[in-house]
Amino acid sequence: MSKIMLNNLSKSYKNKAIFHNVNVMVEPGNMIAIKGKSGVGKSTLLNIIAGLETATSGSYRLDDMDMEKKNLNQLAKVRGDRIGYISQFSPMIAKLTAYENICIPLIFKKKNGKLEVANMKKIVELSKLFQVHHLLNEKIKKLSGGEIQRVGIIRSIISNPALIVADEPTGSLDDETTSIILNFFQEAKSNGTTIILATHSQLVADQSDVVYNLTSGGLHLE
Ligand SMILES: Nc1ncnc2c1ncn2[C@@H]1O[C@H](COP(=O)(O)OP(=O)(O)O)[C@@H](O)[C@H]1O
Ligand SMILES: [Mg+2]
Repeated sequence: MSKIMLNNLSKSYKNKAIFHNVNVMVEPGNMIAIKGKSGVGKSTLLNIIAGLETATSGSYRLDDMDMEKKNLNQLAKVRGDRIGYISQFSPMIAKLTAYENICIPLIFKKKNGKLEVANMKKIVELSKLFQVHHLLNEKIKKLSGGEIQRVGIIRSIISNPALIVADEPTGSLDDETTSIILNFFQEAKSNGTTIILATHSQLVADQSDVVYNLTSGGLHLE
């Protein structure tokens, strides 16, 4: 469960203003969709929420933390502890198997040098849900683009993040994978996970609790 509060958040790159005055509060267990024209800054805003970059001004509180006051190392720790970031492109290590790639975030959490049995069970469970169970021991380079995306999604959610940040998660997915991920989001939500995503898809927006439109002037209800 995570609560997000953005107050007068602005972002510019050098002299180029991307957006300003973004104000939003996302309650724990809610799913929020952000729509907006290409180039308006949806990915930039999600990157800030995911702790991958920082805003130029304004404040961002995630639960009890002032994210704008954290350095990059501290942000990385917050990401590892509570944020799952899903994007259209999931960088994978081609020489490793699907299973090994999924384990990467868990390596930083393992106790006594061993992965917990609960984690292994979760990998199997999610692989079945995303229908890549039979591919777990295959090297990534042998998988198709769609299969790699599914493995990437599993890797993003394997640590049970309290907050899922998803940048056009269904943008290039086939219908079947889209419906699997939407079902997963609904289930995660019912377990208290907060989800914030950027999307162009009406189907995804329809399943969200609140839909916002991002413009250079801020975030407004659709
Ligand atoms: N690292 C960067 N340096 C400079 N400009 C950037 C950088 N990242 C994104 N931009 C610019 O910020 C704007 C918003 O990009 P982006 O957040 O990707 O928009 P969206 O996801 O809505 O399509 C674009 O004009 C893009 O070129
Ligand atoms: Mg984008």
